[in-house]
Amino acid sequence: MTTLPLPVSTERLLLRPFTPDDLDDLHAYQGLDEVARYLYRPPLTRDQCARSLTRRAAGTVWAEDGDDLCLAVCPVGEARGGEARGAGKEQVVGEVVLKLASARSRQVEIGWIFNPAYAGRGYATEAARAIAELAFAELGAHRLFARLDALNTGSARICERLGMRREAHLVENDLDGERWGSEYVYATLAREWKADRA
Ligand SMILES: CC(C)(COP(=O)(O)OP(=O)(O)OC[C@H]1O[C@@H](n2cnc3c(N)ncnc32)[C@H](O)[C@@H]1OP(=O)(O)O)[C@@H](O)C(=O)NCCC(=O)NCCS
Repeated sequence: MTTLPLPVSTERLLLRPFTPDDLDDLHAYQGLDEVARYLYRPPLTRDQCARSLTRRAAGTVWAEDGDDLCLAVCPVGEARGGEARGAGKEQVVGEVVLKLASARSRQVEIGWIFNPAYAGRGYATEAARAIAELAFAELGAHRLFARLDALNTGSARICERLGMRREAHLVENDLDGERWGSEYVYATLAREWKADRA
């Protein structure tokens, strides 16, 4: 089993595993229609959020296809100012996820979901960059990719800020309720990520 160097710290954020105490914060964004808009599923109920926290608390295994790593994103230091709620518990403003799509060929999918109350501050980009670095530096990813609804411009901008390449535009490849959804695939390779940072 891979032992991960957690938590991860960035300039403004702490990325750490979720705990059962995060239920209110998690449901505050996962329960919103606007957050689920491009996720091809309804918003999560409080019970669904509680069950997902139980699963997440069981620990992370990173070995087989489908294994995932989901980290809570919490502002720290000065960034915490506006988010402060008393000593102790950090405010969770969103999450970033890695999924092992293929262990054999080291293909890793990245994703992000944030509370719209904290949008437009670059938190999602900063957290995505940090977990992408973890994927390459610690988890041995060869290729990191993101799949997103073609209408999800905020997500596309994150991919582009990370230096990912748009590799595919799949047209009406999924059904989102009554709407045919089209999908972009963005990706970057380990050697490209390293070269960009050199
Ligand atoms: C996708 C999603 C995370 C994007 O959120 P976001 O707020 O646009 O992303 P960021 O937090 O990185 O903020 C980026 C914006 O902050 C601005 N910004 C402000 N201060 C900044 C700072 N200090 N550093 C970086 N960017 C900053 C950027 O310019 C950028 O604005 P722009 O998009 O108008 O250019 C969010 O819309 C979301 O969670 N959606 C629902 C879930 C979802 O669809 N997930 C993706 C499934 S594929």
